Amino acid sequence: MKKRLLSGIKPTGNIHIGNYFGAMRQFLDLQNQYDCYIFLADYHALNQVQNAEELRRQSDEIIKALLAIGLDPEKITLFRQSDVPEVTELCWIFNCITSMAALKLAHAYKDAVAKKLPVNMGLFDYPVLMAADILLYGANVVPVGQDQKQHVEIAADMARRFNHLFGETFKIPQVMIRQEVGVVTGLDGRKMSKSYNNTIGLFDNAESVRKKVMSIVTDSRGLHDPKDPEKCHIFALHKLFSMDLLEDLTTRYKKGDISYKESKEILAKNIVEFLQPIWTKKAELDKNPHYVREMLENGAKKARVEAQKTLKKVKQKIGL
Ligand code: ADP
Ligand code: TRP
Repeated sequence: MKKRLLSGIKPTGNIHIGNYFGAMRQFLDLQNQYDCYIFLADYHALNQVQNAEELRRQSDEIIKALLAIGLDPEKITLFRQSDVPEVTELCWIFNCITSMAALKLAHAYKDAVAKKLPVNMGLFDYPVLMAADILLYGANVVPVGQDQKQHVEIAADMARRFNHLFGETFKIPQVMIRQEVGVVTGLDGRKMSKSYNNTIGLFDNAESVRKKVMSIVTDSRGLHDPKDPEKCHIFALHKLFSMDLLEDLTTRYKKGDISYKESKEILAKNIVEFLQPIWTKKAELDKNPHYVREMLENGAKKARVEAQKTLKKVKQKIGL
């Protein structure tokens, strides 16, 4: 029996190549090794996105992105969090055994308070809903970025606490941190992030990719000046998209044998080549909403069977 792996992605903005290399691509490598449950965390997004059209568009985009990069719904269970309402029921039950003091230590809440941002109950309760996501499906491993590690630990604590109070019920989930994944650099040299407006979108078109690559910030060295590849934001992206040219590019950078303009042109061409098959697959999915809908319905059906089994057991344990 394969171990169960579970992870969620929030539909909170246009997906970019940082999300692809930092998160989504890992699922591709793992889909053969594990019994994978991957879902769209739309309830989690709701504390940030409060616009129906935007939420729908972003949700649609994430689902199509997961399919377009090659996740296979025959191998994995792909679904929308909100299609399995049992998760909110379990969240309520967990709420009743969670102390507010513990939630006040969660990073997302502490950051929002430190920045004096308004905090809604959804943000405060975010880790509890995430614990419900993880424990409802009996996940063994949860691959996440470093920023989500604390949430998975809270889920593990929740499982221990529930088991202690009501008897052995939940498996203790393990966090899987993607150590090998570096930070993808954005157009301005900072971490690529939708909050910095420095991204290349997974679904940008060729023209937009070219424009964005040409706008990557560089120093003012000219064609014949030797350049340090390790200090160049263009080169940081070559490491992801121009793997077979790296040696040659390094030599040319150090010798002063390449302009930033040429380096950008090579990069833009390689990014477009890399993204083209993803765009083609996305266009096919756009033409076939029926397929996407049916795939999601099947995913939800399968996930719900698991969810209902767990919830039934939980209700028995707590006396409902
Ligand atoms: P953003 O920073 O654009 O708001 P999110 O915080 O929504 O992105 O990130 C979603 C996922 O993508 C997370 O798992 C995160 O670790 C990963 N990710 C986001 N940006 C990058 C990046 N520049 N490099 C590597 N991984 C990233
Ligand atoms: N909180 C995660 C993020 O922001 C998304 C998420 C929701 C998730 N539920 C989850 C990830 C359960 C792993 C497991 O990226």
